[in-house]
Amino acid sequence: MICAVIRTSRSDDAIAAMAEARRAGADLCELRIDYLEDPDLPKILAAKPLPVLATVRPTWEGGRYDGDESVRFGLLEDACLHGADYVDVEFRAYKDFQRRDAKLIVSYHDFEKTPEDLEATATKMAALEPFLVKVACQARGSADLARLVTLQKSFPSPIAVIAMGEFGEPLRILYHRYGGRLTFVSLKAGLESAPGQVTVEDMVRLYQGKTIDDATEVYGVVGNPVAHSKSPLVFNDVFKHLGMNARYVRLKTDDPAALRSVAAAMDLKGFSVTIPHKQAVAGLVDEADDIVRGVGAANTVSVRDGKLIGSNTDLPGAMEAIQDAAVKKWAHGIYGMRALVLGAGGVSRAIAWGLQREAARVVIANRTFERGKALAEELGVDFVRWENLLDARAQIIVNGTSVGMTPKVEESPVDASLFKKDMVVMDTVYTPRQTRFLREARAVGALGIDGVEMFLRQANHQFRTWKGRPIPTEILKEFAQKL
Ligand SMILES: NC(=O)c1ccc[n+]([C@@H]2O[C@H](COP(=O)([O-])OP(=O)(O)OC[C@H]3O[C@@H](n4cnc5c(N)ncnc54)[C@H](OP(=O)(O)O)[C@@H]3O)[C@@H](O)[C@H]2O)c1
Repeated sequence: MICAVIRTSRSDDAIAAMAEARRAGADLCELRIDYLEDPDLPKILAAKPLPVLATVRPTWEGGRYDGDESVRFGLLEDACLHGADYVDVEFRAYKDFQRRDAKLIVSYHDFEKTPEDLEATATKMAALEPFLVKVACQARGSADLARLVTLQKSFPSPIAVIAMGEFGEPLRILYHRYGGRLTFVSLKAGLESAPGQVTVEDMVRLYQGKTIDDATEVYGVVGNPVAHSKSPLVFNDVFKHLGMNARYVRLKTDDPAALRSVAAAMDLKGFSVTIPHKQAVAGLVDEADDIVRGVGAANTVSVRDGKLIGSNTDLPGAMEAIQDAAVKKWAHGIYGMRALVLGAGGVSRAIAWGLQREAARVVIANRTFERGKALAEELGVDFVRWENLLDARAQIIVNGTSVGMTPKVEESPVDASLFKKDMVVMDTVYTPRQTRFLREARAVGALGIDGVEMFLRQANHQFRTWKGRPIPTEILKEFAQKL
């Protein structure tokens, strides 16, 4: 069940919020009575459009209620009397009371950490034989997420394990895939009652939460940060369009070494890798393609029989985009052209390697001299100083730095005087799509390629790696308009 948390201070607003939760697709509402300043429980419960879980969370368990315990239990009894369908009682304060027909959820919260003795605590809670055991803990890293998923999957009684915080988001979304009975969602962004809650809208539409089951194939994007990633939008839409029982989530990862246990616990089929883990993942996969070996960075992993198989789709994505534009401009394409790559990070490194493989004459420039020079030497290509970019005499320019990215959209890594009409210019930055760098290049007639084009091409290669077929052209076209 997808449970929308109703956290209003007025009873009338709670009634309106419950109606909104139902419209948005929630199955259940949690009425947080501890937030109500005028708790008119008969009125609220008479108007309920969905089953209601009644909660009066005390301050000592992360809630708002700081009054007398007997009054608190009185409120819970009152809620049961007026038709609450479920009632939440904290394990630490558990005592039996007149619950009538309401089903008991015994809960335990730790907003700081995932405690060592959590499994033992959950077992003690289950001994009370409630309708459901609920444990909600802060996942402080990837290892905690793996542990919480494992607890939920293996627990012998009905349980809802809530992994709080950004690291825990995948379990909130995929709760049903791993045997969970309940997940909590917020009515809107900004109204979360606990860290990491997703909105009912995202849960129901983006992640198609109602049709997730134990056969759902799970993919995700591994990185830190991952909140900005557009990949969940693209892949979930493609899965839905193709009728595939698969979902794609954000997997914030602090420790790439924990990825193996996360992949095993979550039964991942594959994952994308983004900043800053591409190099680390290249070093830990069991098998790697020649691009990963050559570039030293992996952005795609497939999991087969417990083995991690690394590949790199950033490179073909970028190279195809540059080659198509170069062929439009010069017929022979990239071959023999002078290509200036700005930056010496993961993306620049991959593109410089790929351009060289296509027999371009590559020149690297980087803000930090030593890093750029070292990369040029390693690849055996030319190098120019950042202040002497004109010396590169480039026909192709690629921005592989992060300059120009939201929010600093008025920045460009180079002076506009560098651009000439007979050039192909690509920006890898894709938020915003039209960067100042590209605008200035196009203004003099250069052929510009934006970061969205590279992104969609690499996503298409990634999808093919996992699913053995490309993303349908109409979806790619739709996203090319939308992103
Ligand atoms: N379109 C796509 O599909 C796609 C896919 C992946 C990545 N990207 C984009 O590619 C870009 C780079 O990613 P990455 O993984 O290579 O990052 P990275 O490894 O962190 O490298 C960043 C590069 O940007 C340079 N840089 C940063 N700030 C600068 C400034 N103010 N002036 C000049 N240079 C500056 C750095 O120079 P120093 O060495 O001097 O620090 C470094 O060379 C990002 O914008 C990312 O969004 C796009």
